[in-house]
Amino acid sequence: MNKIQTAQNYIDNNKPKIISKFKSFLSIPSISSDPEHNDDLIKAANWVKDYLEKLGIVNTALLKTDKHPVVFGEFKCGDNTKPTILIYGHYDVQPPDPLELWTSDPFSATINGNRIVARGSSDMKGQVMVFLSAIEAIVKTGEIPVNLKFMIEGEEEIGSPSIESFLEKHKDRFSCDFVLNLDAGSLSKNQPAIVYGLRGMAYFEIHVTGPEHDLHSGLFGGVVRNPIQVLSELLSGMINNQGVVQLPGFYDDVLPIDTQEKQDMEKLGLDDKYYLSQTGASALFGERGFSPTERVGARPTLDVNGILGGFTGVGPKTVIPSNAMAKLSMRLVPDQTPKKVYEQLLKYLEENAPEGILWEVKRLSGDSETPYVTDPYNAYTQCFADSLKTIFQVDPIYHREGGSIPIASNIQNTLGASSILSGFGLPEDKIHSPNESMDLDMFWNGIKTIIHYLYTVSENC
Ligand code: BES
Ligand code: MN
Repeated sequence: MNKIQTAQNYIDNNKPKIISKFKSFLSIPSISSDPEHNDDLIKAANWVKDYLEKLGIVNTALLKTDKHPVVFGEFKCGDNTKPTILIYGHYDVQPPDPLELWTSDPFSATINGNRIVARGSSDMKGQVMVFLSAIEAIVKTGEIPVNLKFMIEGEEEIGSPSIESFLEKHKDRFSCDFVLNLDAGSLSKNQPAIVYGLRGMAYFEIHVTGPEHDLHSGLFGGVVRNPIQVLSELLSGMINNQGVVQLPGFYDDVLPIDTQEKQDMEKLGLDDKYYLSQTGASALFGERGFSPTERVGARPTLDVNGILGGFTGVGPKTVIPSNAMAKLSMRLVPDQTPKKVYEQLLKYLEENAPEGILWEVKRLSGDSETPYVTDPYNAYTQCFADSLKTIFQVDPIYHREGGSIPIASNIQNTLGASSILSGFGLPEDKIHSPNESMDLDMFWNGIKTIIHYLYTVSENC
């Protein structure tokens, strides 16, 4: 029996043990957006660090950032001709809200059929567990055949605000041949994927203030602007009925999709039916003139994420509220920048806000959350494609994802290393939603893929 098979057998023989470790990782509510959970982020970081140490990874440390620490560790296989792979992951998770929609406790993982249900199970503690388990299997049955470095951060879900300056400071420590990032997911259970593009992110809060305090809507209705009404009009004016964003200059820097890529995107077969079934919506909507795949992967979008204002309690309350607020995000594509769309948003508000209210924009994301596009036809990525094919019995699909992983472009810019973006999460995992889960077949096959990869990349690259 060869060493790949032996390590894979270790996984088959230790499933309950691996699941119980996975559950303990999932039990830590490491919600990076909530300062009340700062201690839990440290706890999750230490959980990863301790695990790495048990696997024989050396020089482990929690490296300080402005917010949450980065877990570092490395392994030297004793052969400098072997590649150095930087394994990226994040131990932070999104908030579990709305809590009442969970059918089990988000931080007490539950097995439901063939899925493990908990916040972070798929995005991305499950993916971190995939490579930790793969390395464990190799260490228990053989030797790690490549040089490894680890960068497991705790700020991904808030846009990795400290990471750009962090990378600049630790450039040498993280030097590597390439990055393995499992935060980008598969297309379906039978269809693994390699992602060659990610969108960037710009996030804002818009505050609108009218009267200096809430007013009786009878005594004062008819004499002042209502901030909720104004905010709604401003928001609805941001996209027209063709799905085109109306901020001045919004599309100026958007690179067109070339003909070859358009054809490739069409061949993916992610048609209206696919998106209808994934979303459960009764009809699709988006920028006219582009297919759903193009709109998600290669076109920018703007979304209202939440809106707050006035009275929403039980029964009627007749009031003109003093203020209203909305959270707004934009997904960006090359060559848009977060800074420029911020200026475009300000210009839109200057041009469209009526008198009688005050508006203010708060930026909740940074300059570094830029889009990322890479060429997947390099030896390291192709070797990964081969491992996916070996385990899943089908060639991976190459596509651009609509989500964002800010570190990918930051690593490219500071370390000059490109990332293999893939992973074993599925579109139906409900990441960021109630009842997030991870498919366990994907989990076990993911581990087997990584075992196969580490052995074969060592031979072939
Ligand atoms: N893993 C996701 C991004 C993702 C999901 C990429 C599926 C490809 C396929 C990541 O953890 C994430 O959610 N990122 C945030 C980043 C944001 C806060 C800057 C996102 O996209 O909303
Ligand atoms: Mn996420």
